[in-house]
Amino acid sequence: MNQTVYPAASVLGVVELPADKSVAHRAALLAALADGTSQIVNYPASADPQSTLACLRRLGVRIEEDAEGILHVEGVGLEGLRPPEGPLDCGNSGTTMRLLAGILAGQPFESTLTGDASLSRRPMDRIAAPLRQMGATVELTDGHAPVRLRGGRLRGIEYVLPVPSAQVKSCVLLAGLFAEGTTTVIETLPSRDHTERMLGLDVFEDGTGRRHISIHGGRRIAPRLWAVPRDFSAAAFFLVAGSIASSGELRLPAVGLNPSRTAFLDVLRAMGADVTVENERTHGGEPLGDLVVRPAPLHGVTVGDPLIPNLIDEIPALAVAAACAEGRTVIRDAAELRVKETDRLAALATNLRALGAAVEEQPDGLVIEGGRPLRGATVESFDDHRIAMAMGVAALRATGPVTITGAACARVSFPGFWDLLRSVTGR
Ligand code: S3P
Repeated sequence: MNQTVYPAASVLGVVELPADKSVAHRAALLAALADGTSQIVNYPASADPQSTLACLRRLGVRIEEDAEGILHVEGVGLEGLRPPEGPLDCGNSGTTMRLLAGILAGQPFESTLTGDASLSRRPMDRIAAPLRQMGATVELTDGHAPVRLRGGRLRGIEYVLPVPSAQVKSCVLLAGLFAEGTTTVIETLPSRDHTERMLGLDVFEDGTGRRHISIHGGRRIAPRLWAVPRDFSAAAFFLVAGSIASSGELRLPAVGLNPSRTAFLDVLRAMGADVTVENERTHGGEPLGDLVVRPAPLHGVTVGDPLIPNLIDEIPALAVAAACAEGRTVIRDAAELRVKETDRLAALATNLRALGAAVEEQPDGLVIEGGRPLRGATVESFDDHRIAMAMGVAALRATGPVTITGAACARVSFPGFWDLLRSVTGR
């Protein structure tokens, strides 16, 4: 599907964002392993979290949606998953593949995880290495999916994450549920902490900035009610749209504001953005708030570690803000973007240049000289939801229409994105 987005100086409206996919995947997985039936309120219709549900069903977990849209997940306990018939298709979802691999590594049966073309290009040796150390047999093809797992008796390990990755951290911690003894993951740069929060794990900060997260093998998971907050990463696109407009205001109600996810808000504010947070509250252990964004002149910033893991998914939106800002923006320490749904550094450089922006690609980042006028053009999504949506936002500031090819992939995290974007611009 091609999507054409027309320039718009004004944005106005209330943006009802989809639920957070990171929290949703984890709620579904933990509910499946719980001793009894859990409810999940606000489970997203986005393709990625739906891939997790489909895999769990194939592993024998009963999941029903009631008339109010609440999911009822009949947990099977730690020992109750059934061997699947045939491979488990994770679609486009790296989180499904890497987190589920942790759980499957602890099962007394064989399983195979597959994904679409994009997911089959992403590195899986990062999960195979710790799972093998724990005693699982993991076969990859050239470091990639399909991931063939033969689980069994795992032993607890202490694992220092070689890449800052919440997916790898979570994979090892979930495998730790099935291991003998204690499993400790040590991260040198903080990444999103939903797994440790949702499991109520002990986290110890050792004074050098390293976080040690431990889980005891065999601990039971109690069924409970999960409520999935709205996705801050989805909010990022509208925070930029609201900032780069000439007039108007966007309101984004009930957005998840977990501090391990919101560095982008601080960076955007440091660029000059006018974003306020109203009605801050906590729901299901996660902080929430209503965001209000109004247009403001932006200026360039420099962004690097230790913030990168916190705002890794917001860099496509940040690059668009940078192209519309006065002065230079430097994004560094972000080589991980090369192994996302596509090589996001290359995709952003190619697409922003096609719109007339001055972008230099570095091995681990981008240098963007902002403030050049953007023009209409045809750009590619590279089958990456966040690249597609970022280009949709950049189009608002172009002098002519921008056509995004392969734009349907937005549904991976944000079904309805194109209609919402159109509705706030009134076009
Ligand atoms: C995620 C972790 C991040 C992020 C992804 C979701 C998660 O990936 O980019 O969209 O839910 O744990 P990495 O852990 O590979 O950095």
